[in-house]
Amino acid sequence: MRPDNVEIIVLDDFRTLTIKAAEEFCEKAQEAISIRGRFTVALSGGSTPKELYALLASEDAPFRQRLQWSKIHLFWGDERCVPPSHADSNYRMVDECLLSKTPLSPENVHPILAGGGDANKTAENYEQVLRRFLRLPDDGFPKFDLVLLGMGSDGHTASLFPGSDALREEKRLVAGVKIEESGSDRITLTPPALNNARLIMFIVSGESKAQTIRNVLEGEYMPERFPAQVVRPTDGKVLWLLDKAAGKAISNF
Ligand code: 6PG
Repeated sequence: MRPDNVEIIVLDDFRTLTIKAAEEFCEKAQEAISIRGRFTVALSGGSTPKELYALLASEDAPFRQRLQWSKIHLFWGDERCVPPSHADSNYRMVDECLLSKTPLSPENVHPILAGGGDANKTAENYEQVLRRFLRLPDDGFPKFDLVLLGMGSDGHTASLFPGSDALREEKRLVAGVKIEESGSDRITLTPPALNNARLIMFIVSGESKAQTIRNVLEGEYMPERFPAQVVRPTDGKVLWLLDKAAGKAISNF
């Protein structure tokens, strides 16, 4: 039985999925800013959200002018341990798709400064950025208004990969993780840092992820094998936005 705080919406195709994600982003931003005076969002890396970021910034779409950019604060859900100019950098991807095209000032942009240094030190530094900016107590967790997540075909999300020790982290906000096959270490928000969010929105596209989506949403709870299952917000909501190709193997939604 699916928890009440989990919603799944299957859209016809990638374009309608992206538009829906942009609508949700704007709605949450307007709600957060009207209630709390600002909107804090942790961005996903990867390729799926590129079109969303570009759509939010586009002068030819209705979203840009609905957003009060001066009240939006961007964080990253994960980063690769590479300089911001590197092709694999999530910061660079967001800069190309969004930052370079919007009036966001640097004070509103809080990247993970992962210039190829030690992953654990970078993680500690980012944890301090979060604690300072969000004024967290030593044992507190960030309550992002929105966390955007993707999912790999192996079920990873952010940089929480199958079997990773970070999946069992209960205190730290940010962890450094070693990725054997890719050779480049990564930095990731931890499950408690993600799960304290008001809304966690997955955007997943493509048939290659359909079976994993079925395992994650309808299979046995095995987060070591399917890390996206670790995303279970304490008092927030999870919204899965899938296109038909990614949602083809799930039975009910
Ligand atoms: C990253 C992301 C990662 C991504 C998935 C899906 O840094 O790559 O945080 O978790 O969301 O790997 O990636 P695609 O969107 O490219 O399929």
